[in-house]
Amino acid sequence: MKMRTKTAAILAATALSANAAAAGDVEVLHWWTSGGEAAALNVLKQDLESQGIGWLDMPVAGGGGGNAMTVLRARVTAGNAPTAVQMLGFDILDWAKEGALANLNEIAAMEGWDDVVPEALQAFAKHDGKWISAPVNVHSTNWVWANKALLDANEIAVPATWDDFTAAVEKLAAAGVTPIAQGGEAWQEATVFDAVAMSAGGPDFYKAAFIDLDEEALGSDTMKEAFDRMAFIRGHVDENFSGRSWNLATAMVINGEAAFQMMGDWAKGEFLNAGQTPGEDFLCFRFPGTAAQVTFNADQFAMFDQGGMVSPEQGALASAILSPAFQSAFNVVKGSVPARTDVSDADFDDCGKQGMKDLAAAASSGNLFGSMAHGHAAPASVKNAVYDVVTAHFNGEYDSATAVQELVDAVSVAK
Ligand code: GAL
Repeated sequence: MKMRTKTAAILAATALSANAAAAGDVEVLHWWTSGGEAAALNVLKQDLESQGIGWLDMPVAGGGGGNAMTVLRARVTAGNAPTAVQMLGFDILDWAKEGALANLNEIAAMEGWDDVVPEALQAFAKHDGKWISAPVNVHSTNWVWANKALLDANEIAVPATWDDFTAAVEKLAAAGVTPIAQGGEAWQEATVFDAVAMSAGGPDFYKAAFIDLDEEALGSDTMKEAFDRMAFIRGHVDENFSGRSWNLATAMVINGEAAFQMMGDWAKGEFLNAGQTPGEDFLCFRFPGTAAQVTFNADQFAMFDQGGMVSPEQGALASAILSPAFQSAFNVVKGSVPARTDVSDADFDDCGKQGMKDLAAAASSGNLFGSMAHGHAAPASVKNAVYDVVTAHFNGEYDSATAVQELVDAVSVAK
């Protein structure tokens, strides 16, 4: 869809559904509309309904949440903020700075959130000493999802390094298999770029470029190498990737139409929703060359201030989200891992268990970094500048050397 048409469609949807939540209801704005995401959301809906709280659904389709954030801005501008909103990283802090979010300190203190929510998440869930959102999960973006039967048939082992990966991709291509399932949206290309940049330059480079926004790192030969790797990936996706949504790319791997998808672990929700089992039907592994690192994003629900106090419904939602039982039940379905450190991994499958282990190890070894693509490395203005360059390069508008220069310029204007 052209940008202007898309925005018009979003705004029309906003106008239609701009009903304030009735007392006893929560109106929840979110972008969990794929099969796996909707299955996970149901766990939360049912939890609230069992407490007698009605759910007014405000879904805004569009992976990564860009469309949802456009709708949110329109709703708030119209003086009609939803009760609760799914949000990521710096977006939460930006809204907090505007004074738009309710203070959850009372519930947080009662339930001891300070002791159980990892520090990396608290950095986005608290502002000015106040809890301003309830973390639901921890996702990470440096994963690869693979169709096991296709790898077996082509005698391909799980690639550990970038060179192993390029060899596997070329072998698949020679055998007539589409090596990589890719969706064609800027946020999806940026998701791959998170992992590719980490793999090309390692954790110090990732941090310097995407978190410190250091000009030297942004303009380095290592960044050019990252773009060259993106060009390799672009050379091994099918012709019809343009505009494809992420879950349709996952479906290609599920159905054996492509071997690999590089995507955050929300992709696992699609495999599970299709009845597949990790280790049997599909494989999950860290993007080659990033086994020790985790680039994370955490979905949180921020409560918009409805005039002073947190409403009982908002409190119930926040409390339900942080309950250990919910954290396990929800994240088992969603593909993410709990946003608390004290939840058992017993109910998680092998990918989930690995995700929990990787997260804890990365946090204690200084290898846990916010995802650029999903708003945890830099504010939206910088993130969007990176999106523009990565997608233009991926779509062949310019070569890697030009992309590096464009990135330096775009980030310096945006920051
Ligand atoms: C991410 C979000 C995930 C998943 C994904 C695709 O930004 O954190 O929960 O929904 O987008 O929609």
